[in-house]
Amino acid sequence: MHLRCVNCNRRYEIDEVVYSCNCGGLLEVVIDLDKAKNVFDGRDITLWKYRSFLPVDERVSLREGGTPIYKLSDGVYLKNEGANPTGSFKDRGMTVGVSKAVELGMRKVICASTGNTAASLAAYSAKAGMKCYVLVPSGKVAVGKLSQAIIHGANIVQIKGNFDDALNIVLKASREIGAYILNSVNPFRLEGQKTAAFEIYDQLRFVPDTVILPVGNGGNISAIWKGFKEMEEAGIINKLPKMVGIQAEGASPLVRMFKEGGDFRPFERPETVATAIRIGNPVNWTKAIKAVRESNGLLESVTDDEILEAQEELASVHGIFVEPASAASLAGFKKLRKAGAIRRDEKVVLVATGHGLKDPDAVLRRSRPIISVNADANELIKILEEQRKPEH
Ligand code: F0G
Repeated sequence: MHLRCVNCNRRYEIDEVVYSCNCGGLLEVVIDLDKAKNVFDGRDITLWKYRSFLPVDERVSLREGGTPIYKLSDGVYLKNEGANPTGSFKDRGMTVGVSKAVELGMRKVICASTGNTAASLAAYSAKAGMKCYVLVPSGKVAVGKLSQAIIHGANIVQIKGNFDDALNIVLKASREIGAYILNSVNPFRLEGQKTAAFEIYDQLRFVPDTVILPVGNGGNISAIWKGFKEMEEAGIINKLPKMVGIQAEGASPLVRMFKEGGDFRPFERPETVATAIRIGNPVNWTKAIKAVRESNGLLESVTDDEILEAQEELASVHGIFVEPASAASLAGFKKLRKAGAIRRDEKVVLVATGHGLKDPDAVLRRSRPIISVNADANELIKILEEQRKPEH
């Protein structure tokens, strides 16, 4: 087991505290797949069931993974990552990332975040007894996420700038502060996140044709792709899905690159209602583009209105409340299916990355006024009858 640069293949030892190669390339963990166990029997699904694929011996766990998969319609499934302990897929990354921090003897951890990473790191570092620093873009973090980071005791700093500015500061300042970085540049975090692929196969008992997920920094799409590739390399599956990434139109540098070609160019002023993916300069862009190209997949963007409509549909038709960024999966699926880019007979898994309670304001801002009556049954009946009248 070792670390490898995805650009130049240079090798680093597994216990080096290093986040990128000397050439500037991103790192990935190379797992000894001959030691990986075929545990894919559809039973007792939790993240640590797949420990033979994971690069750590320590285990700081809040019982992550094992999230439900729902059938929305024929051939269309939704993996609800909002059912993780802190309400997002980040817990998969943090259980492994913080376990690695313990193995390395780190006492402090740090991240930049649009909210979910902060909430998750705050919880796992609390459990591990570590000091936690989180840098968030001022005024752009959903209230549920911020309150999680606060109650778990993180040291929170609001940066007068966006997420990209906050991450730049983390990358520059972590060594001085003496803190271990747990953003998705950390390859161990992505090792945890790849287990979503294992669970999809373990739960469905087949490999879907297409996996669709929202993309911000591009870590999760590359992690899930790695998970599928490792199952193939280990001889567990013999087919791979297409990876489809969805970005919000106002923060879609990867979609632009994918569609227009040319070099990668960041969005200077990313803007979207889906604050989780309000990212203009995705740190994992090379890995994300590689996942999409290797898998013969796609990148597509959706508008804020499409995102909010899909969020409402998931909640009001299927009973699943997700945060706006997560609804990008369904919004993108609908757009691509309409355009014929996804066939009607394809088996598709939509990944819903975070729970709706993370961002209650996004719902309240656009809800109709709620009726209010005196504590009187007759008054209630009268008002409900009046409300019904215009329909007839
Ligand atoms: N969905 C949600 C709910 C997220 O919180 C994020 C990222 C993504 C999707 C995108 O995943 O970055 O791996 O492409 N949130 C980060 C954070 C940036 O700080 O919580 P990605």
